[in-house]
Amino acid sequence: MIVLGLETSCDETAAALVADDKRVLAEALLSQQAEHRPFGGIVPEIAARSHLDHLDGLIRRAMAEAGVGFGDLAGVAATGGPGLIGGVMVGVMTAKAISAVAGLPFIAVNHLEGHALSVRLVEDVVFPYLLLLVSGGHCQLLLVREVGRYRRLGTTIDDAAGEAFDKAAKLLGLGYPGGPAIEQAAKTGDSKRVPLPRPMLGRPGADFSFSGLKTALSRRVAEAKPAGTADLAASFQAAVIDCLADRTANAIAMASEDVPPTALVVAGGVAANTALRRRLEDVAAAGGLRLVAPPLKLCTDNAAMIAWAGIERLQRGLTDGLDFAPRPRWPLDPSARPGAKA
Ligand code: KG4
Ligand code: ZN
Repeated sequence: MIVLGLETSCDETAAALVADDKRVLAEALLSQQAEHRPFGGIVPEIAARSHLDHLDGLIRRAMAEAGVGFGDLAGVAATGGPGLIGGVMVGVMTAKAISAVAGLPFIAVNHLEGHALSVRLVEDVVFPYLLLLVSGGHCQLLLVREVGRYRRLGTTIDDAAGEAFDKAAKLLGLGYPGGPAIEQAAKTGDSKRVPLPRPMLGRPGADFSFSGLKTALSRRVAEAKPAGTADLAASFQAAVIDCLADRTANAIAMASEDVPPTALVVAGGVAANTALRRRLEDVAAAGGLRLVAPPLKLCTDNAAMIAWAGIERLQRGLTDGLDFAPRPRWPLDPSARPGAKA
């Protein structure tokens, strides 16, 4: 069973072909980072236009690389939300067109579900497991019970963790995207040098908050000499990691009272951070769990995870009609109260 997956919800345009035996037959991905860099963040109109310009070509390239035609496919999956609506529409319309012309099942994949299930494409992780999803757009702790069954244990009440890294890097004059730049600068800095708050630390629950930390950093930047950039970066990174670790430890306890998870999984662009991974190893071990971090290529936005989620859904008979409407917001856990993100 081969499924074509499309991802267009943020600033990556991607197409991938994945088989149900977990082989990634082909992947074509175009990052729009260079197009957005001059603006210091993602511009939705530029993103939508760029998805429209490039998606067809990427699909053609992936199909050629895999040596398959539409007749070889079992279905076509596209991110149906949450995300920047212009981009989501491009992916959904394209998938629907292929589905209609080739007579294939269409699967609208929740982008968060794509991240949540991606680990199962590369590791034998069984349900239920705990997921820390930390990217530029999302910051959530999810109990993944089964395909389509999620309990959100925590979410951010303001910024996502990656967004906080990006805003901090901007304050420090380190460029976009900020996470890698902060991590690099932090290597030569003293993380104890600059006092910064740890929002939500020690509070019950597993919600996050990063906007107060960003405000505190901007005050410290105004006070510090230019030479303090490394210390500021190291202190900021340490504060974010302390918050993520504290909230994750709470989520492990919350999940264990519900259905004990089999593993702690981390995904999203911020999972690239080595210091964070190291810390999460300890958090997982303290909770009696192993930490599973998919390879980075699968952690950041990609189409293989959408194709894989499409396969998991197709295997369970979960497909969508061509009347599916793209969703800018689409919580995985409908019972969770609305958060700031998705
Ligand atoms: O998952 P992703 O590629 O895109 C989405 O936001 O969906 O995540 C990008 C985010 C950016 O905010 C970037 O600054 C952050 O991940 N990031 C990092 C690192 N590498 C990327 N944050 C901290 N440390 C890193 N090494
Ligand atoms: Zn994402």
